[in-house]
Amino acid sequence: MNFLLETLQLIVLSIYYNVEAIIKFCIPSKKKNVTGEIVLITGAGSGIGRLIALEFARMDVALVLWDISEEGMKETTRLSKERGASRIHYYLCDCSDKTEVYRVAEQVKREVGDISILINNAGIVTGKKFMDAPDHLIEKTIEVNTMSHFWTNKAFLPAMVKNNHGHLVTISSSAGLIGVNGLADYCASKFAAIGFAESVALELIATGKDGVKTTIVCPYFINTGMFDGCSTKWPTLLPILDPNYVAKKVVEAILTDQTYLMLPKSMYLLMALKSFLPHKQSVILGMYLGAFNFMDTFQGRQKKRI
Ligand SMILES: NC(=O)c1ccc[n+]([C@@H]2O[C@H](COP(=O)([O-])OP(=O)(O)OC[C@H]3O[C@@H](n4cnc5c(N)ncnc54)[C@H](O)[C@@H]3O)[C@@H](O)[C@H]2O)c1
Repeated sequence: MNFLLETLQLIVLSIYYNVEAIIKFCIPSKKKNVTGEIVLITGAGSGIGRLIALEFARMDVALVLWDISEEGMKETTRLSKERGASRIHYYLCDCSDKTEVYRVAEQVKREVGDISILINNAGIVTGKKFMDAPDHLIEKTIEVNTMSHFWTNKAFLPAMVKNNHGHLVTISSSAGLIGVNGLADYCASKFAAIGFAESVALELIATGKDGVKTTIVCPYFINTGMFDGCSTKWPTLLPILDPNYVAKKVVEAILTDQTYLMLPKSMYLLMALKSFLPHKQSVILGMYLGAFNFMDTFQGRQKKRI
């Protein structure tokens, strides 16, 4: 191909994809049929993981729950059955432990089948300033929030690629897009999860496996208990999110093959600003938005998970 031809192709396709994006923005996209899919959710014993399971419980899918809390998964199973789920399996699995992930993944493949929708949701937060955070908590945060995605993808992606069918979902965070004072290890783990997910998505595109979709989710604070005590300065612009709303939006993003989901919508604007504002202006904007003090009142989960 020559320069002129390639450039012309780029311009035409760019116009086409921009028009397509505007249409998709204005007209709700058609939802795909997930009947018969096998959906694995890590960290399904509470919070967003549980609520995503409950959203899928209304659909004709097999649900596979992973968590370190058996009690939490039993409750998610009970609630899912109440919503109509008939095929639901739960497995104790510490996703940060590669050997355990591979062992439990083999068990799932034998007992349930190949996973076709993988939702990497399990997450933890240290909630301490970098200099105060103990080494073992920093390591654990990276192991749970990032490394686990490597191991689950390694275990389940090959079957998706073979069938050219599947969906990889990464629950990251707005803290995976913009650094936060007091969240160094958490931000690093969430940035890394995005980098990993974006790169795997590009590998899939490069190999022509267009049947395996990807979704990266970046929510601001959610009222699940994980960030209890944290406050938001301007709740109209950056509200603390309702967990049910987030779970609904995540499932909607999966069903419409949305590649990125940022919540609330103002995150899209903040991300755009971050990429072109002068650094000092970004800093004062961060101060104005309260980003320097989000973690000042952090307590973390105080009450026992249900
Ligand atoms: N809550 C928020 O404000 C917020 C904001 C943005 C992103 N997120 C992300 O959303 C995801 C869900 O968070 P949540 O608010 O529902 O938290 P949560 O604490 O309610 O749920 C996390 C679940 O992960 C499980 N888990 C922890 N370590 C595990 C491990 N090693 N292996 C398997 N399971 C493990 C926990 O037992 C728990 O059930 C996390 O990845 C979190 O980082 C949360």
